[in-house]
Amino acid sequence: MIDAVIFDLDGVLVRTDGLHYRAWKVIADAEGIEFDERINDQLRGVSRMESLEIILRRATRAYTPEEKQALAERKNAIYRDLLQSLCPADVLPGVNELLSGLSARDVALAVASSSKNARTILDRCGLTQRFGVIVDGNDISRSKPDPQVFLMAAEKLGIPPERCLVVEDAEAGILAARRAGMHVFGIGTPRNLPGVEPIAESLSQVNVATLIGRN
Ligand code: BG6
Ligand code: MG
Repeated sequence: MIDAVIFDLDGVLVRTDGLHYRAWKVIADAEGIEFDERINDQLRGVSRMESLEIILRRATRAYTPEEKQALAERKNAIYRDLLQSLCPADVLPGVNELLSGLSARDVALAVASSSKNARTILDRCGLTQRFGVIVDGNDISRSKPDPQVFLMAAEKLGIPPERCLVVEDAEAGILAARRAGMHVFGIGTPRNLPGVEPIAESLSQVNVATLIGRN
C-alpha cells in the first residue's frame, strides 16, 4: 500500500536537466575538459561538488580546493541566470495532472532533491503549494545515492519508508530510494536506467493507477 509519493525534482517534475548541462558545459569548455551529454547523465541526482569532481576526472591537471570552489560557484551563477527564464511551462508533461490525481486520493506528496536551488525552481514553476514536504540540498549532509534525503522526507511526512514510492530519473536516486527501503518508479529508458522496473519515459505516460497500483 502506497501512502506517499516522493518526487525527485530535476528531470522528473521540471525541465532543468538541460540547464544544468548548459552551465557545466560553459565551465568545462573554458577549462578545456571533455564534457558531453553522456557524461552529464552521470551527474543526475549528484550534488554540485560531487558533479564537479566527476567532470574534473577528465582534466589534465589537478585543481586546488579553492579553484574547485570557484568553479562550482561560477557554474551555479550561470545556472541561476538560466533559471530566471523558468516558468510553469517548464513543468514536464503529465506532472500537474498526476499531482492533482494523487492529491484527490489523499496520497501525501513530497519533493526530495539534491539541489540547493530546489525551492527557487518550485516557486518559479508554481509547484511549491502542491507538496506537503520539501527536502532539498540545503537540508542534507549526504547526497544521493545516500538515502538521507528520502528518509528525511518520509519522516517529515510521518509515513514509514515501505509505504513510500519514489519517482526518480537518476541511477544515484534509484539506489538511494532502494537503500531507504522504498518502492521506486523510474523515469527514463531501460538503457539509461538498466534493471529499473516499473519505468516510463515520461510522467505523461503514467496515471494514478499505474503509479500506485490503485484507482
Ligand atoms: C540534482 C541534479 O537534482 O541537483 C544534479 O540532478 C545537480 O544534476 C544537483 O548537480 C545539485 O544541484 P544544485 O542546484 O544544488 O547545484
Ligand atoms: Mg533528477
